[in-house]
Amino acid sequence: MTQHKMNSDKAFIFDLDGVIVDTAKFHFLAWRKLANDLGFDFTEEQNEQLKGVSRIESLKKILKWGNMELSEEEFNSQMARKNENYLSCVDEMDNAEILPGVSKVFEYLMEHNIPFALGSASKNARTILKKIDLYKKFDAIVDGTDVSKAKPDPEVFLIAAEKLNTAPENCVVFEDSVAGVQAANAGKMTSIGIGDQKVLHEADYIFSDFTEIDIEFIKKLLRKEK
Ligand code: BG6
Ligand code: MG
Repeated sequence: MTQHKMNSDKAFIFDLDGVIVDTAKFHFLAWRKLANDLGFDFTEEQNEQLKGVSRIESLKKILKWGNMELSEEEFNSQMARKNENYLSCVDEMDNAEILPGVSKVFEYLMEHNIPFALGSASKNARTILKKIDLYKKFDAIVDGTDVSKAKPDPEVFLIAAEKLNTAPENCVVFEDSVAGVQAANAGKMTSIGIGDQKVLHEADYIFSDFTEIDIEFIKKLLRKEK
């Protein structure tokens, strides 16, 4: 991290899938195809339970919904197939996929030397960040390859806070998943839910998307005592 960023006492942590880019829909499509190929289906409502959850835990949940058990070998090959499918969507991505309103927040943080990190459950996070030209913009990146405990455990965000040299209470987390909001709250951070109010009601603040977030709100977060 660059030295001048140490001056800010606040830091921001962003989830990736469903916050910066709409890859949540690619995950849903790929998992749904897997379920359909195995002969069952699941709903968009059930899919909320997969958001923020690791690849392995996601497949365990899906198989439970379909009342299915797989051998270890078949489990691993289904997981690999899902990821291949998912990556074929990711492959098409470029920086036009950054969700509306997100870039203005990053620009403000960079202009004002406020440190920010990625805190994602995905093992594909670095690949995606490179595709959308954001990889070098983050002061720290913590993803599914860096953690041993999945969200709602706060580990991913606590590691990010440590890398940003910021106390957890001074971190603000942007999340689209229930598990992620719970992880931020468990880490004593300020949680901002991006999505449906009914789903993300545990968050400190909720917005449907980043177009609803203005710079005044970011400034308010920077002044806020937790
Ligand atoms: C999270 C997504 O960001 O990453 C989950 O919300 C996904 O849906 C998880 O399962 C793991 O992602 P990946 O890319 O490692 O399979
Ligand atoms: Mg997410």
